[in-house]
Amino acid sequence: MNIQGAERLKKLPVYLFDDLDAQKEAEEAKGVKVIDLGVGDPDRPTPDYIIQAMKQAVDDDRNHHYPSFKGMPEYRQAVAHWYKTNFNVDIDANSEVLGLIGSKRGVADLPMALCNPGDVVLIPDPCYTAYIPGIVLCGAEVHYMPLLEENDFLPDLDAIPEDIRKRAKLMLLNFPGNPTAALGPLSFFEKVVPFAKENEIVVCHDAPYSEAIFDGNRQPSFLETPGAKDVGIEVHSVSKVFNMPGWRCAHAVGNAQVLSYLGKVRSNVDMGVFRPIQFAAIAALTGTMDFTRNMAMTYQRRRDILCEGLNRLGWNVRKPPATFFVWTKVPQEGISSGDFAKDVLKKAGIVITPGIGFGQHGEGYVRIALTVEEEVYPEVIDRLEKAGFVYK
Ligand SMILES: Cc1ncc(COP(=O)(O)O)c(C=O)c1O
Repeated sequence: MNIQGAERLKKLPVYLFDDLDAQKEAEEAKGVKVIDLGVGDPDRPTPDYIIQAMKQAVDDDRNHHYPSFKGMPEYRQAVAHWYKTNFNVDIDANSEVLGLIGSKRGVADLPMALCNPGDVVLIPDPCYTAYIPGIVLCGAEVHYMPLLEENDFLPDLDAIPEDIRKRAKLMLLNFPGNPTAALGPLSFFEKVVPFAKENEIVVCHDAPYSEAIFDGNRQPSFLETPGAKDVGIEVHSVSKVFNMPGWRCAHAVGNAQVLSYLGKVRSNVDMGVFRPIQFAAIAALTGTMDFTRNMAMTYQRRRDILCEGLNRLGWNVRKPPATFFVWTKVPQEGISSGDFAKDVLKKAGIVITPGIGFGQHGEGYVRIALTVEEEVYPEVIDRLEKAGFVYK
């Protein structure tokens, strides 16, 4: 039998890391000890206090039942507490928090909850690639908002054409940004809110890196902006900043109406997060932020070693203010980001991510992750130097 996939699958991009993984495997098969600075997966384990909370909860058989899709009340209260403590934002745990099986799921399902076929969704370019499938699968259209270095990687709202504004139903934003590592200042959010109101566009700020911040910087919550709750939501996750990517636990916070639409999709296709995992996330959100602060210091030290080393090789890298990525121009003239990344893998045995994988405006850049131990970065620099990636 010749089984055909649905037509709509053809509209989906190849998952960026499938290609990179295949190339990496090919190098490893040749015996190369590849250093993987590709995917943004926290390398250190989940802290013990969080694991202990999970263990205790798993022993309680009341936690073995189907979990509510909304998230346990205790979880939603912990999220509200976290927003108050970190951003001084008041959140009603009952109506303004929705638990999610990862923020990827939230941003993927949101277009399904809000958009009709033909509606437009505004997304940054370059961006986290998981924004696109949900839009495509519900028949909506993508409009890219270029993130340019000369604009500090902030979208230019004035550049969005009138006809697109009229058809746009949803805008996705992401700060600190993957892959650009840019911060989203309150002054930018203060432009977004009236823009969204005027054009009746729902805003979703995806903020999973909000505490992976360096040099005393701060990423404000979108919900700190006056009027933000009238126009949108913020999605936040324990994956990145509490080293819990595999646990699949996140939350959407903000406009109750938007959350009820998203919740309707979620409840129809899924259940909630396993309750012991929610207890673990409660321990994360209500504990001290020492672990997160220490991790940020760790990424910052790695960033300094990497950026200073690359600059010694003439790469002209700007140190990122946040996230665990360095986003930098391809240092070589006349080569695409894809070919450059392939060269780096072949000649130096290092995986870096070509910017084109994140969108057209990512071309000309590469993303290098800060997710291996500090001692590995001098070897990265050494390998690059020996392989001839020197530009001075
Ligand atoms: C911008 C952005 N949003 C969301 C996610 C997904 O995070 P989660 O583990 O919460 O699904 C990622 C992960 O790479 C990301 O970079």
